[in-house]
Amino acid sequence: MTALSSLWPLFSLTLTTPRLVLRPITDDDIPAAVAAARSGIHEPGKSPFSTPWAEVPAEELGPNMARWHWRCRAESTPESWSLVLGIWHEGLLVGCQDIGAKNFAALKTVSTGSWLKQSVQGLGLGKEMRAAVVLYAFDWLKAEVAESEAAAWNAASLGVSRALGYELNGITRTAWGDKVEDVQKIRLTPATFKRPDWTLQVEGHEPAASFLGVG
Ligand SMILES: CC(C)(COP(=O)(O)OP(=O)(O)OC[C@H]1O[C@@H](n2cnc3c(N)ncnc32)[C@H](O)[C@@H]1OP(=O)(O)O)[C@@H](O)C(=O)NCCC(=O)NCCS
Repeated sequence: MTALSSLWPLFSLTLTTPRLVLRPITDDDIPAAVAAARSGIHEPGKSPFSTPWAEVPAEELGPNMARWHWRCRAESTPESWSLVLGIWHEGLLVGCQDIGAKNFAALKTVSTGSWLKQSVQGLGLGKEMRAAVVLYAFDWLKAEVAESEAAAWNAASLGVSRALGYELNGITRTAWGDKVEDVQKIRLTPATFKRPDWTLQVEGHEPAASFLGVG
């Protein structure tokens, strides 16, 4: 039988760092991603996300998350794509790191977002997984800019960004549901990137890049 990865080449992509494996979440991985999210990502009532998706009742989180993965996949085209990578640490799925772009051919710009389950936060894994997708974007996809944003109070997320050399790129006031947040935008280029001292291992780049219309 034909492997799904031959029809959907993004499933061939695997990024490996010293402590982590990052690869697109398949349907078989969704239950582990839901379990990681249900174990807790943030303090109750203090959502770091523009939609408080991790705070919905447990029975809604599973279907919502499945929908999110299916939507990101279904809507990924060379013009607009979003790659949701699972993060495996010591063989367990502990979080997600996404990287996406709109009109990448012209703008050469990616944006990222991420979360880890609380039990593995603060160990440097957030920095390692963001460094992985930035290395992939700059060195393999030839991106020229990586953008992100975080609530101005999100010290961990902004800590990862600062440690990798991102520059502050303005604050915007936004409504996150019924909460008003000051959101810090940040921006990284190859010139300011503080590269890690390890090398990213990449498998499955060619079919994934060709599917995304890159290169
Ligand atoms: C944001 C998140 C992915 C960061 O990952 P992490 O593994 O906890 O962070 P790291 O341990 O890699 O820390 C990276 C850097 O930030 C700093 N940092 C981490 N947590 C911090 C905190 N609470 N306050 C200040 N600095 C912090 C670290 O000191 C480190 O800097 P250094 O390399 O200069 O020492 C993780 O905390 C998380 O999932 N949080 C909840 C979800 C979330 O906020 N997602 C982002 C939405 S924008």
